[in-house]
Amino acid sequence: MQNNAVKGKGYGTQAERLALRFVFDVLGMTTVLADAIRENTRSQHVLKKGGFRFVGEDEIFRYYCIDR
Ligand SMILES: CC(C)(COP(=O)(O)OP(=O)(O)OC[C@H]1O[C@@H](n2cnc3c(N)ncnc32)[C@H](O)[C@@H]1OP(=O)(O)O)[C@@H](O)C(=O)NCCC(=O)NCCS
Repeated sequence: MQNNAVKGKGYGTQAERLALRFVFDVLGMTTVLADAIRENTRSQHVLKKGGFRFVGEDEIFRYYCIDR
C-alpha cells in the first residue's frame, strides 16, 4: 500500500475489512490495536471508517483500538 499509484482506490479499506474478519472470525482474537503516523490522516480516516476508536497519541503516532 506504499505505492502512490494504488492509493485511494479502496484497497486499504478492503484489506482492513478482510484482515479484521480473519483475526476475529478465524483466529478468535477479541481486540486489535493499530497505530498511524500522525501525518498520515488518510490512514487514520480508514481506521475510523472501519470501526477503530481513537485511544491516545504521542509525538509520532496516534493509537486506535477495535473490539469484536
Ligand atoms: C493508509 C493506506 C493504507 C490507505 O489505503 P488506501 O487504499 O489508499 O485507502 P482507501 O482508498 O481504501 O480509502 C481512502 C480514504 O481516505 C480518504 N482520504 C484520502 N486522503 C485523505 C487525507 N489526506 N486525509 C483524510 N482522509 C483522506 C479518502 O477520501 C477515502 O475515504 P472514503 O472511503 O471515506 O471516501 C494507504 O493509503 C497508505 O497511506 N499507505 C502507505 C503508508 C502506510 O503503510 N500506512 C499505514 C501505517 S501509518
